[in-house]
Amino acid sequence: MKKEQVLNCQFSCWYPHFKSQTIRSIILPLPQNVKDYLLDDGTLVVSGREDPPTCSQEDDDGEEAEEIQAPEFPEFALKVEEAIGSLGGSVFPKLNWSAPRDAYWIALNSSLKCKCLSDIFLLFKSSDFITRDFTQPFIHCNDDSPDPNLQYELVLRKWCELIPGAEFRCFVKENKLIGISQRDYTQYYEHISKQKEEICRLTQEFFKKHIQYKFFDEDFVFDIYRDSMGRVWLIDFNPFGEVTDSLLFMWEELRSGNGLKDDESEGGTMEQDYPSFRCTNSSLTVQPSPYLSYRLPKDFVDLSTGEDVHKLIDLLKLVSNFPN
Ligand SMILES: Nc1ncnc2c1ncn2[C@@H]1O[C@H](COP(=O)(O)OP(=O)(O)O)[C@@H](O)[C@H]1O
Ligand SMILES: [Mg+2]
Repeated sequence: MKKEQVLNCQFSCWYPHFKSQTIRSIILPLPQNVKDYLLDDGTLVVSGREDPPTCSQEDDDGEEAEEIQAPEFPEFALKVEEAIGSLGGSVFPKLNWSAPRDAYWIALNSSLKCKCLSDIFLLFKSSDFITRDFTQPFIHCNDDSPDPNLQYELVLRKWCELIPGAEFRCFVKENKLIGISQRDYTQYYEHISKQKEEICRLTQEFFKKHIQYKFFDEDFVFDIYRDSMGRVWLIDFNPFGEVTDSLLFMWEELRSGNGLKDDESEGGTMEQDYPSFRCTNSSLTVQPSPYLSYRLPKDFVDLSTGEDVHKLIDLLKLVSNFPN
């Protein structure tokens, strides 16, 4: 995979070209001091609340107690507030490529639904996916060109209640749709198994009409959502390679094309450009949630229930500062 391919999948690169097929969003440049704050492990304290919490911490050498105060970014906060307001009051936040999906459990609502900047900060600061966007966006690239300069951006997308069983990931190689996978593959959805043919047809139609030859690359992955009216929406573009979860396929298969056509062909049609479709076929093969490993033990999570989430954070800091 080339760095160029990763660059093309940044939200701000594709959004202007595919606006009419996707969820309304606002892109704000991320100021350097906000980026520094998000990457700083020392301050988990989140600002933007009426009564910003403070806590005392001993220096490493134990000399002086230091007050940690949440930093404030009034100008940026105002822009974010305005954007959230114009998107209806609730947003789904992302950085250039990723959403903090691995951190949803730390939010009071156990969701990525954000209403203010401090909701976003808490998720971003707790997310390995966000850290990866900041520190190693080109980790799977094999070209040795110098890393391109990046302008980090906060992406705010209008919050939509999406049903996981209606999401699919589509793999495109040489501008051909070669594979479609159920996105939430850990669950069995009867309706997906029953409507395979229709889902394939609608996805292929959507691809031909709105995506094919319009993206900046000929190999890529895109995610779609099929709403209750049957309309297909674009959710995201991702690089064609290991950084992107291949779900019910294997990267080896997708790259070589070997094995894809052995899939049971729906409706008996074995047309040349017909994508291979994969979904979870029975509840017996259901797997645990892929994000479970990012979570804390249940006791810790319980602590946050009905309580100020900052209590949990303070407790964690206490634990981590405790000498062994
Ligand atoms: N605007 C939105 N509102 C609510 N949920 C969303 C929204 N956009 C995406 N999601 C949910 O979040 C998941 C991840 O979104 P995505 O943009 O693909 O992030 P990533 O690239 O980090 O995986 C999607 O599969 C979908 O379930
Ligand atoms: Mg993505």
